[in-house]
Order: sequence, then structure tokens, then C-alpha cells
Amino acid sequence: MDSILVRGGAELKGEIEIAGAKNACLALMPATLLSEEPLTLTNAPRLSDIRTMTMLLQSLGAEVQNLAGGKVQAMSSHAEITPIADYDIVRKMRASNLVLGPLLARLGHAVVSLPGGCAIGARPMDLHIDALESLGARIELRDGYLHAKAAQGLKGARYEMRFASVGATENFLMAAVLAKGSSQLVNAAREPEIVDLVKCLRAMGAQISGEGTSTIEIQGVDRLHGATHPVVTDRIELGTYMLAPAIAGGEVECIGGRRDLVASFCDKLEAAEIEVEETGRGLKVKRKNGRVGAVDVVTAPFPGFPTDLQAQMMALLCTADGVSVLEETVFENRFMHAPELVRMGATIDVHGGHATVTGVERLKGAPVMATDLRASVSLILAALAAEGETLVSRVYHLDRGYERLEEKLGACGARVERVKGQ
Ligand code: UD1
Repeated sequence: MDSILVRGGAELKGEIEIAGAKNACLALMPATLLSEEPLTLTNAPRLSDIRTMTMLLQSLGAEVQNLAGGKVQAMSSHAEITPIADYDIVRKMRASNLVLGPLLARLGHAVVSLPGGCAIGARPMDLHIDALESLGARIELRDGYLHAKAAQGLKGARYEMRFASVGATENFLMAAVLAKGSSQLVNAAREPEIVDLVKCLRAMGAQISGEGTSTIEIQGVDRLHGATHPVVTDRIELGTYMLAPAIAGGEVECIGGRRDLVASFCDKLEAAEIEVEETGRGLKVKRKNGRVGAVDVVTAPFPGFPTDLQAQMMALLCTADGVSVLEETVFENRFMHAPELVRMGATIDVHGGHATVTGVERLKGAPVMATDLRASVSLILAALAAEGETLVSRVYHLDRGYERLEEKLGACGARVERVKGQ
């Protein structure tokens, strides 16, 4: 297994191009199952999670071609589609569950293994099941698989979600676009990735309104057609690289970055004495003056502070001037990076869904272990400013969500290298 070696202490200067959003692309790719005509995604990120989704779609009978070095995904589902999403692929990534809605819409039945993914809490599927059942499907769990059937076809319905789940919103949308009649999803997720999925579905002929608000209306249509759609910028990659100069010092311009994608995160950066400038090409970030200020952070569904930036924000606050409290409300058990940061000299006290971080002047390099995707990058960020060397092991998580991280940070002067495992 590969590791990443970071030699801390180098200030950063330069620009980093932000890729298309992993989480948007993972929802957009299954949309190919909804039409027999080709769906082409441009600005796709080159990540192992995208390769996993490619394998899953191919196993279902879709054609997926990576063009332009992986930046373009050319897909087609004109051939016969099989309804079974096998455990061997699904277990690699929770987002595999996003084929459930499209398979139901296309075939009227689906057999999808329960997913795996990052070990950040229970992550059940009840909201997906309830949302799809509201459209007339019946779903049973047998032998680790969800067996879904819509014997009479899917029918439009009003469904109110108890929590604004991103994945359940996406599955509901992709099922309702081909259902008979109109649907309304109340307490829908409002994330930019949802808005991006709606844009793509609309380009395919779907009739949807209200995306980006908590009520989405869908008027079912008989069929969808082909489309070409550019994947929205990855706001989590953006936030991660915005934190690099905030932690290590210097100035980095994140090309393609948009403030509206990370507004609540920018507010917290500014409260921590970090300057965020909109340049027309992206967002430029540097520290205002000496030490970072302490801030309290509560994660929440969009437009709140993203849970996927909580670990990286904690890395920043480890060296802030004062005490910060981070509260995680989206996932339980999402502080696995805290004990690793403590190995680097941080002072963090985790109590339930809260982590109290008492800033120290400086972290020190240490051997640490990545436990999930965002945790692994938080350790790399922390290591950028730590004294000495940090070896982050088990970085396969990182390759799920960050393309060419060593290169992107290295181009700004960071000393980050991959150490190949046996
Ligand atoms: C997506 C993102 C993930 C991000 C998360 C929250 C993708 C591929 N992944 O994950 O990176 O961290 O949104 O912003 O887009 N829940 C239930 N029952 C369900 C579904 C979810 O209780 O049926 C709970 C989960 O356990 C979790 C919370 O709802 O506590 C949020 O989950 P959800 O919004 O569904 O996240 P994902 O779509 O899995």
C-alpha cells in the first residue's frame, strides 16, 4: 500500500486547478441508465471512485468510455441492462447505491447489494428505501441485497424526507423523472451536486424545478434522450486546497473556485483571519497576519459547513491561537483523524459529536494512518506546516477523492511525495 511522505515547513505559492466534483460525477454517471441515448460528461475527475462506478455501470450492461485521459466519460445504455449490482463492486463504495433509482425507473426492478464506503458511521439506507417506496416500489432486504420491484411501474408522489439526505434525494430524482405523473420531494438536499444532477437530467429532457431549494418538483416524462453535461467544480477539493496556504503559509489561487460553492466555509476562514479573494479565475487564499484565529464550526447539510471539510478544518485549527469547538451533526463517528492529529502534537478532546481543539504553536511530524478519504487529506494538510517529516500510510483512501494531489501541492512548493508500497 502506498504512503505519502510530507516534509513540513515550506510556504506555498502558486495556483491549483480544481477538478470536477467526485460526488457530482458519481450521481451523474448512473443517469446514463435512464436513457438509451448517449450521455457524455465533461470535466470529470480522474479518481478511483469514478473507476469503481465505471466498473459497476459496465457490469450492468452500460458502455462507459474514458476519453481525454479520463476527463470525459462517454456513456451509453442502449444495450440490454441487467438489474443486479453485485456486492463485489458495490462494497468498494457507498455511492454505488445510486444505481437503485435509475434501475427501478428503467427496468421496474433492481437487486442492489448494500454498500460499503468510508467507515464514518452507520450510514443506513432507510431514507433511500422510503423515498423509492413512496413512488410505488416495494423493497426488501434479503441476503445483503436490496430487492426492489415496482410491479405497476413507478407513480409520482409527494415525499417528505426526515433528513435531507444527498443520496436519497438523488435516487428519488432519478426514479421520479420517468414515473407517471408529478412528484414533490420535501426537505430535499440542496447541495450543488444535486443542482448539477438536475441540470443534467433537464438537458436529457426531464421536467424538474426547485433544485437548490428544499422542495423539488418533478413532472414525469415517458423517455429521456442523450445529452452532454460539464461536471460542476469539486467544492470539497476546492476547500481542501484553500486550506493549504492557510495552514502552511504563503498564497494559493484555486482556479475554477467559486465562493457560492463554499460560502459558509469561506465565512469560517475569514473568521479565522484568513483572506479569501475572488479573482475572476478562482479564489486566492492567504493568511491575514501571523497566527490563525480560533473558530467554532458546526457541520450541517448545504448551505451549512460541509461535513466533508470538517477534518481538514480541524487540521487548520490545531495551530490556531485559542480554543475551537467542532461539532459534527451529519455523521456520527467522524473524528477518526483526531487521534492521528494528536500523534502530531495537537491537543484535541473528543466528546460525543464535539471535538475541542486547543491550538498549539506548531505540530511535529510523525508516522500517522489515514482512516477515511477526508481524514487522510487532513493529515497531509497538517503535515505541510509540521516540523520535520510525516509519513501518512494507507493513502488508498486519498486516491478515491483527490487526483494528482502530490503534483498539485508540489507545484506550489510543498514537499510531498508518494512512497510506493509493495
Ligand atoms: C454524500 C456524499 C458524502 C457527504 C454526504 C453528506 C456522495 C457520493 N457522498 O453522502 O461525501 O459526506 O453526502 O454531505 O455524494 N442517512 C440515513 N438514512 C439514509 C441515508 C442517510 O440515516 O437512508 C444518514 C447518514 O447515515 C448520515 C446522513 O444521513 O448520517 C447524511 O447522509 P447522506 O446525505 O445520505 O450522505 P451520502 O449521500 O451517503
